[in-house]
Amino acid sequence: MKGTALFVIFLAVASADIFRYDGYKVYQVIPTNEIHAEVLKVFRENEEYDFWSKTNILGESVNIMVKPALQNSFVKILETNKIEYSILIDDAESVFQEERLRQTRAPKIEKGKISFDKYHRYEDIQAYLERLQVDYPVKVGTIGKSYEGRELSYIQIGDNPNNPTIVLDGAIHAREWIAPAMALYLIQQLVENEEYAYLSENANWVIIPVLNPDGYEYTHTNNRMWRKTRSRGNTCYGVDANRNFGYVWGGLGTSSNECSDIYHGPYAHSEPEVAAFTDFVLGLNNVELYIALHSYGQWVIYPWGYDFILPDNVDDIHYLGERIADAIKSVKGTSYTVGNSAILLYPAAGCSDDWMKGAGGADLSYTLELPGGGSQGFDLPASRIYDVVIETFQGILAAYEYIVEK
Ligand code: ARG
Ligand code: ZN
Repeated sequence: MKGTALFVIFLAVASADIFRYDGYKVYQVIPTNEIHAEVLKVFRENEEYDFWSKTNILGESVNIMVKPALQNSFVKILETNKIEYSILIDDAESVFQEERLRQTRAPKIEKGKISFDKYHRYEDIQAYLERLQVDYPVKVGTIGKSYEGRELSYIQIGDNPNNPTIVLDGAIHAREWIAPAMALYLIQQLVENEEYAYLSENANWVIIPVLNPDGYEYTHTNNRMWRKTRSRGNTCYGVDANRNFGYVWGGLGTSSNECSDIYHGPYAHSEPEVAAFTDFVLGLNNVELYIALHSYGQWVIYPWGYDFILPDNVDDIHYLGERIADAIKSVKGTSYTVGNSAILLYPAAGCSDDWMKGAGGADLSYTLELPGGGSQGFDLPASRIYDVVIETFQGILAAYEYIVEK
């Protein structure tokens, strides 16, 4: 009896904190001419519209979440401009609720273990890394602390100073849950699957599965669609960590509005997560490849992102991009588009891939936009995590092979 009462109170408190998306719709919009592209650009620059997927390519669909109060005018503008659209998600809240239900119903994992049938919380990810360090000859450490004081953990697998170093991270954007899941799968294969022991004999892998743990936890506890860090501003919380890097900081595709989802922060590396990451990377040797894991869109994109400028090694970087995409496709047919991020998506300055190429030493620097959940939500339903991590692993293997051949 007493137990039940307590339980009810707990539930009430917990759900009161969760931001609800009742009636929010996700529209799938297809721009087919320059005017359409211009209209979408105006929406993109407006904080009120949340672009779940985004491209600059005519004929390719863009998914945009719109709150109820704006839906009529949004649709009217689309119709006036003869822009084709459909409703991908009718009520985002019900999709998120279903996801929460699936998350709580999924079997609990043993402490120190990992699985790919649900999205794991920060604490479980930490426990997994700590257990690996006990059981295997890998190095687990911290690059610093997040704004709210969480450890920013990394794992290094392989430590031959003559080998090339490969750096990956996930969850720089909090809501992109498939990214840390992918990082964890890679870690598991590198460390626990003997078949892949050779991967760390020929390369040093440095992986930070959750670079923005404050934001990541916040998406589990308060707001599924949170993207930024959780640092406190004057009027709003959070900085887009992927606009905060000190390589052409504050340029195109960024915002100085604290409340924007692409707020670049008060100055470059203002976010402890970004400062810790850049300091740490500058201390690594032979960094040759960088992959930032994001979702979603099925893109293999490369610098420069700060403007419509191709890098000097565009032939090389594009070629490897295609190899990554081919390897992923060979598993189940999932197709990725490869190209320069400014041209394919939109210019965005202060991103980690640009910094890694321009300052961090990684000539081959990529952002991988993993698949999303379509009408099933922002990320894939947990039952599909496995498919994605398996195919993406092949893409990462292809990149490894290229680096080692060189
Ligand atoms: N979706 C990512 C973002 O908006 C793409 C970043 C691509 N890289 C770039 N340098 N623009 O943060
Ligand atoms: Zn992202």
